[in-house]
Amino acid sequence: MLVTSGPTVEPIDPVRFLSNRSSGKQGHAVASALASLGAQVTLVSGPVTLPDPAGVQVQHVQTAREMLKACEAALPVDVAVCVAAVADWRVKQPSRHKIKKTGGGVPVLELVENPDILKKLSRRKNNRPRLMVGFAAETDSLLENATVKRWAKGCDWIVASDVSTGQAFNAEDNKILLVTSRGPESWPRMSKQEIARQLAERIAKQLT
Ligand code: CTP
Repeated sequence: MLVTSGPTVEPIDPVRFLSNRSSGKQGHAVASALASLGAQVTLVSGPVTLPDPAGVQVQHVQTAREMLKACEAALPVDVAVCVAAVADWRVKQPSRHKIKKTGGGVPVLELVENPDILKKLSRRKNNRPRLMVGFAAETDSLLENATVKRWAKGCDWIVASDVSTGQAFNAEDNKILLVTSRGPESWPRMSKQEIARQLAERIAKQLT
């Protein structure tokens, strides 16, 4: 099985970058929970402060493009769970030198869109994982956006949560909505470990 976790980091120049608030807690917990059930797990993670989970093969990456490459290298897998908060954009041409203030004005960064890893894996013609699980971080219309996202990405399940307060990111617990072909299921608030454990059990059940 393949799990992505953490943020990605997109360079602006040698000392600055674009990133986001992902801690990797949920993704690492999912990788651990799947391994505890006996799965052989590759975890592709952006930079986080967490230790590598035991019993999991970890690939450390920085950028979205590196994450995609590591995910594709891990195929074939039965299941892919994309928990990572992949940066949607990167700087088109990162500067090789530190950008200085001496010009007077402020730098204008030209951004380009990063590859969508969940979408690419979900829409593969060969080696598409049997079960593709995406996560959705939403600030509004949770069910509607999660339902549209599931369809737009081509994945089987979406685990959606409300991030409007910014609390979900470094918190120990979360409240999720699981959207599958059978419709939405609202789970009570629980720890990220418990979400991972119950999700891993659902995944195992789905495969049998
Ligand atoms: N994702 C991905 N690659 C990207 C962006 C997102 O694999 N370049 C995956 C995430 O790992 C997650 C899902 O897509 O499983 C949804 O991520 P989210 O940030 O909620 O949505 P976006 O696709 O970025 O769309 P938007 O920001 O417009 O809500």
